[in-house]
Amino acid sequence: YKTLGIIGAMDEEVERFLLRMDGNVETVKAGIRFREGEWNGKRVIVCKCGVGKVNAAVCTQLLIDGFGVEAIVFTGVAGAVHPELNIGDIVVSTDLLQHDMDVTPLGFEKGVIPYAGESVFPADPTLVEAAVAAGESLYPGLTRTGRILSGDQFVANRDVVAGLYREHQGACVEMEGAAVAQVCRMNGTPFVVLRSMSDKADGSAHVNFPEFTKLAAERSAAIVERMLGVM
Ligand code: ADE
Repeated sequence: YKTLGIIGAMDEEVERFLLRMDGNVETVKAGIRFREGEWNGKRVIVCKCGVGKVNAAVCTQLLIDGFGVEAIVFTGVAGAVHPELNIGDIVVSTDLLQHDMDVTPLGFEKGVIPYAGESVFPADPTLVEAAVAAGESLYPGLTRTGRILSGDQFVANRDVVAGLYREHQGACVEMEGAAVAQVCRMNGTPFVVLRSMSDKADGSAHVNFPEFTKLAAERSAAIVERMLGVM
């Protein structure tokens, strides 16, 4: 890929790239700041999309239409859903689903988008492989692949987590990835989502999140940076 989009939801998640990227062309669209520069001979566009699926979707479409990105990498933090995941561990998306999509009264399964071609959005296998390799080389034993669940809610309840694991076999939960994934699939743009765990989406999440977001966000971004070196 010659042109790559990198998205994070919060400042901590994209800081690394904004600080180290060569070139500083900045464009603001829909209130989102896009920073364009060069990294390892590639054209890279970095942006903070803001929290939630709508922000993520708008940002993704703008990257595709306005900047001609050929692939998108999302980097950030998430709440652990898989029981074996600890704070700081890393999940690379195999596929993503919007867990708050609920049309069950009409007979659709939870998470299914009615009349859509697909509701579980697969990440690009080559990007997944590159992310796993980069994760393993930087933080041995801490990286796994899995399904990432997204919804417009901060999950902070043990029973909700258990339900998400049971119903969707999710590895972790966050608020943007599956929106990026859907928009990328609608446009035929390859993508992958990387998330490091800031909390366990349980009763301690509101304490753990502010405590561990910096560490987790830095790990995810460090892996993306390593990935860029080999892509
Ligand atoms: N991002 C980080 N932790 C999260 C949680 N517990 N729920 C939703 N998004 C998150």
